[in-house]
Amino acid sequence: MSQRYAEITGWGTALPPAVLTNDDMSRIVETSDEWIASRTGIKERRISHVDVSELGRVAGLRAIAAAGLEPAQIDMVITATCTPENLLPATAGLIQDKIGATGAGAMDLNANCSGFVYAHVVADSMIKSGAANRVLVLGAEKFSYILDWTDRGTCVLFGDGAGAIVVEPTDEPIGLLASELGNDGSAAQHLCLPGRGTAGSVAALDPRTAGLRMNGPEIFRRAVTMMGDASSRVIAAAGWELDDVDLLVPHQANQRILDATARRLGLDSAKVFSNLHAYGNTSAATIPIALAEAVEQGRVDAGANLVFVAFGGGLSWAAGAIKWGERTEPLGSSDAALPAFDGDALELLRPNIEFFGGEISA
Ligand code: UT7
Repeated sequence: MSQRYAEITGWGTALPPAVLTNDDMSRIVETSDEWIASRTGIKERRISHVDVSELGRVAGLRAIAAAGLEPAQIDMVITATCTPENLLPATAGLIQDKIGATGAGAMDLNANCSGFVYAHVVADSMIKSGAANRVLVLGAEKFSYILDWTDRGTCVLFGDGAGAIVVEPTDEPIGLLASELGNDGSAAQHLCLPGRGTAGSVAALDPRTAGLRMNGPEIFRRAVTMMGDASSRVIAAAGWELDDVDLLVPHQANQRILDATARRLGLDSAKVFSNLHAYGNTSAATIPIALAEAVEQGRVDAGANLVFVAFGGGLSWAAGAIKWGERTEPLGSSDAALPAFDGDALELLRPNIEFFGGEISA
């Protein structure tokens, strides 16, 4: 029997319409557009007026249409998220129902910001083993819900959104050629959200413990090392030289992390995709959103060699070397869209800001 490979055949995104600019951010915490843009590269981010499964529904239907498939042909839905809509059921199950993937299994996967790359590796393995044939892999997050809106060191960094890919079997030696999944649980305290799982109190959520906590400089240092080194290892494991890499599609956390990772790797920064300025860090959703935009912008040629690499809570990291197939155009399009919203991002956030004792200044 010839070896089975798993090709990315569809891609799609769902980006909420409400934009929160850096100037808006300076009405929530003591910060400035100058600080945020120069320290992170972020200019604005999206704030979602809908729940995570709705973001997933739209990204998923768009990816399925781009693959030229119907939802009923999908046999597995994997949603990478660390902001699930509920503790149970899994958000993937809600998406499976909403899109009408009636023949599909569904599961969530939480590896924090590295979750999408983990989920892609799982989908690839399921296809190669024959356990699944057409897998919808999503990264879908609503970080605005878990941020401490009085902590300027974290709340300025993140945004909401979803991206999705469809992975299907092929006999061609394309798709994921090499991968690395890692974690250092001994450093988990540097990026965590205590108190919302079973380790929390059964009493009402306490604003003092209910938001994301992060040791930014520590995460920064580790992200550069691990993203650079894990990329090097998957490039070598795929049998490539550095020059063979056409585009690095990294987790979008901070432009300075992307620049330092490129320097550590020795890769021309023109080969590093970035859309941080527009969306900030959408955690598990950054890579599928970036990939879809890279394809749409013509940055992914037929047969291109791509590297996905991520780092985040856990502290987890993940990398994959992917050979793109022949097709760079979608086979179809979907009219799926988020419900209309013409309100204000700051007003959407008001209850979250006030929960933490913050306020929106004039
Ligand atoms: O997906 C993975 C998730 N996380 C990450 O990847 C984050 C990785 N880390 C980072 O991106 C950076 O560490 C940050 C952007 C979070 C912070 O940048 P930094 O250059 O490491 O700054 P810092 O934390 O060392 O803080 C420098 C100063 C401090 O003031 P003092 O103590 O020097 O007076 C902070 O209080 O900047 C201050 N500061 C701010 N000032 C204005 C921190 N956040 C802000 C802010 N606006 N939003």
